[in-house]
Amino acid sequence: MTHAVSREVALRVEGLHKSFGAHEVLKGIDLAIHRGEVVCIIGPSGSGKSTILRCMNLMEVPTKGRVFVGDDEITAAKANTNALRSRVGMVFQSFNLFPHYTVLQNVAVPPHIVKKVPRAEAHARAHELLARVGLAEKAAQRPRELSGGQQQRVAIARALAMEPEVILFDEATSALDPELVVEVLTVMRSLADAGMTMVVVTHEMGFARQVGDRLVFIDDGVIVETGVPADVLASPQHERTKRFLARVL
Ligand SMILES: Nc1ncnc2c1ncn2[C@@H]1O[C@H](COP(=O)(O)OP(=O)(O)OP(=O)(O)O)[C@@H](O)[C@H]1O
Ligand SMILES: [Mg+2]
Repeated sequence: MTHAVSREVALRVEGLHKSFGAHEVLKGIDLAIHRGEVVCIIGPSGSGKSTILRCMNLMEVPTKGRVFVGDDEITAAKANTNALRSRVGMVFQSFNLFPHYTVLQNVAVPPHIVKKVPRAEAHARAHELLARVGLAEKAAQRPRELSGGQQQRVAIARALAMEPEVILFDEATSALDPELVVEVLTVMRSLADAGMTMVVVTHEMGFARQVGDRLVFIDDGVIVETGVPADVLASPQHERTKRFLARVL
């Protein structure tokens, strides 16, 4: 798939290093995500995929290196990290919805509190977003009354409600029963087609091939190989990529 990818950079990491104690998990990652682009990240367990995403929105502070949202460096000493962080949405494997809120409140409350969007406007927008992910009729329910796939779609609507410039997905479908995976991937695909900039850590090679504009293979804290998804999947250039794909395909 090729989306209308702009030359403008939405998110960029430069010389990104991250250590936990003596364990160096990221060993110099350089990656620029362009507006409208869908970049899929694959790699073995423990290779650092989640850590990259967590550094991209400062849930983890890099040991070294810089992270930019648009032209603004969020790792700068004087950066308004909360404002910058709200420009980068995140969808996790575990949906992390507020259990005591209704579905509607889960989507409407964060922009009301964080971005001071008036309550009525936040609610109207939440209704629109729930319709967009196919959950208009679930607005008044609690998360526990929904299937995993439905909860994950609420989490996507909640991320969208903040009007982020880019959304990071960390194995958004890995916790779901197989029959629920497709409904979440369908929503993700519709976002991509609508022009959302997305970084998607996934084991869904079909999604990466069909929806990704670029595929990045990470192993042991470095980018080993990157390219057009269909090309990388069909004819990986590096031994490590070949070995990984032989295991997962
Ligand atoms: N907060 C932390 N403290 C200590 N070590 C950590 C922490 N977070 C991650 N690590 C370590 O960093 C390495 C990379 O973890 P990360 O979660 O980024 O891998 P991953 O590629 O997302 O793996 P998976 O596919 O299993 O999700 C692992 O060895 C992990 O144990
Ligand atoms: Mg992970």
